[in-house]
Amino acid sequence: MAVPTAFQGGFRVPVIAAPMFLVSGPELVIAACQAGVAGTFPSLNARPVAQLEAWLVQITTALAEHTARYPDQPAAPFGVNLIVHPSNTRLADDLALIERFRVPFVITSLGNPREVVERIHAYGGLVFADVIHAYHAKKAIEAGVDGIIAVCAGAGGHAGTQSPFALAREIREFWSGTLVLAGAISDGYGIRAAEVLGADFAYMGTRFIATQESMASPAYKAMVTQCTAADIVYTDAISGTNANFLWPSLEAAGFQRQMLASSQGKGKLKGIGEEAKAWRDVWSAGHGVSVIHDVPTVAELVERLAKEYQGAAALPVSTALRREKLCVAISSPCVGICQIDDATGWCRGCARTLEEIAAWSSLTEAERARVVQALPARQAQLAKEDGCLGLCDPDEETGICRSCGRTNR
Ligand SMILES: Cc1cc2nc3c(=O)[nH]c(=O)nc-3n(C[C@H](O)[C@H](O)[C@H](O)COP(=O)(O)O)c2cc1C
Repeated sequence: MAVPTAFQGGFRVPVIAAPMFLVSGPELVIAACQAGVAGTFPSLNARPVAQLEAWLVQITTALAEHTARYPDQPAAPFGVNLIVHPSNTRLADDLALIERFRVPFVITSLGNPREVVERIHAYGGLVFADVIHAYHAKKAIEAGVDGIIAVCAGAGGHAGTQSPFALAREIREFWSGTLVLAGAISDGYGIRAAEVLGADFAYMGTRFIATQESMASPAYKAMVTQCTAADIVYTDAISGTNANFLWPSLEAAGFQRQMLASSQGKGKLKGIGEEAKAWRDVWSAGHGVSVIHDVPTVAELVERLAKEYQGAAALPVSTALRREKLCVAISSPCVGICQIDDATGWCRGCARTLEEIAAWSSLTEAERARVVQALPARQAQLAKEDGCLGLCDPDEETGICRSCGRTNR
């Protein structure tokens, strides 16, 4: 697995916040890169071309200032998404601006990246191609890309139909360069799972729609938090090619289920003007909506993803394995409840810190024993802080529960 030099050092968690039509703009990109995940946007979100120039000034200035101010926590790289399909009449103008601003990486979608690769490599930038089949991945590799983004079933936008279990492993049979995996990854457990499948980064779109900094309307963000995967409809009736949409937004726009049957669009991608009109009322999202319940700031979200990711990285091997075959014969206090208590920094399940969890298998026996000895006292404190005993009896004057010692806040 290969992480390019430009991608080493600026990340809090291995995530690229994916480009989203009408949703990702400069505020989202800047917040993402500052928080420690790569931020991206489709060039076509900045209309007309002069707007793209203004966005690039805004982003490069903010990120340079951040890195100068926090040299120990430099901003993650940002990228611009180019639709390399003949329907994109702005490609030449956008490419010229990308060259001028030396954008760290470019994501190509819906076409062959060959021309873009030459131009971006000439100034030292990187090109990642998004693909939905191994066949397209091979074509992109022949064109000289630096990374492959495998967009799998359940992704928001123009999703693929293949399982990430199949596509990531198939691509890894012939590609040892950077691999990015997409499709319904909405939390730190999904990020870690993508790595286990051989990916270097998770590509997350839908989760970032419901953030404070996204350009989605409040109603769109709310719908993302209210829907589950069962509300996602895969249809080519909106875009000409298949994409995933939120059913309540289709219904509100007057669509009926039978109008969304496959092949309505005849596989022909619509022009940008028509697309913008269609996607303004009908909202795209992927199966990952099921676990999205709030609209945090990007910084809050990245912090949460990092904690979940570290918890997932420390999960013990299955207890279903035969004892003699356990590859990690180290017993772990993990009880499968991996939630970090904000006040103490201890896991509510096992009472270890994230650092202790992450380092567990590499600690010496004596070090592990020391941690294990400290756990009962921590567990007692967690129970005191957390533990409602079910005998709620608040003191009228102080508001403090006589049973558990907490206030009702
Ligand atoms: C609202 C929306 C708009 C999107 N627009 C684009 C786009 O303009 N270009 C692109 O390459 N991918 C686009 N995508 C796809 C994302 O870049 C990414 O592949 C996908 O969101 C990842 O899956 P996830 O949504 O399940 O995290 C879009 C996705 C969504 C949800």
